[in-house]
Amino acid sequence: MREFVESRFTAPRPDCPNPERWHAPDDQSTEVEVTALVAAMVTALQPDFVLETGTCRGSTTEAIGRALRANGQGKLVSLEVDPECVAFARRRCVGLPVCILATSSMDYIPSCPIDFAFFDSLASLRALEFVRYARWMHDRTVVGFHDTGPQHTVRERLKHLEEEGMLVSPLYLPTPRGVMFARVRT
Ligand SMILES: C[S@@+](CC[C@H](N)C(=O)[O-])C[C@H]1O[C@@H](n2cnc3c(N)ncnc32)[C@H](O)[C@@H]1O
Repeated sequence: MREFVESRFTAPRPDCPNPERWHAPDDQSTEVEVTALVAAMVTALQPDFVLETGTCRGSTTEAIGRALRANGQGKLVSLEVDPECVAFARRRCVGLPVCILATSSMDYIPSCPIDFAFFDSLASLRALEFVRYARWMHDRTVVGFHDTGPQHTVRERLKHLEEEGMLVSPLYLPTPRGVMFARVRT
């Protein structure tokens, strides 16, 4: 798939002065380099069950699926409300341990504990999604949130979860759109 320099989508700022060093296929899909980091988390953590909200065109979905296949165990459920995105992403994930559901992130009910989650649907939903799925998380669960850069509202929306101690040891990374990983207190 064609990729563009991220400076097309994200302006330079003090904590990320060179967005042109990253790449993305469009302004919705995660930066290619950040998708690779999410997949590397899956390789490092060896989860049995991964949840992604907001499949979009399946860039990160496919990368997580490939990491799980290389791990030799584990499956991903990715949730998306746009039927065209669902169809597109399903085509690119054929043969991977991935299930893309045409379901809202606020409706899905997991059937097993969540070991790793990547929250990337609407900015206004991500904190609510975390609260919704927290009951399926455990001491070893790691969560990731995309778009936590200062130009987005996600970090502000997560603040109360940090203050309440539900998100533990958050690591905010200075990538163009911003990404944060944290442990969880259930
Ligand atoms: C920022 S994009 C996701 C990018 C993708 N995760 C990636 O890494 O390339 C957000 C997606 O969330 C989807 N979305 C919006 N509301 C949703 C909901 N309630 N449940 C699931 N997906 C939703 C949108 O249709 C859109 O495709």
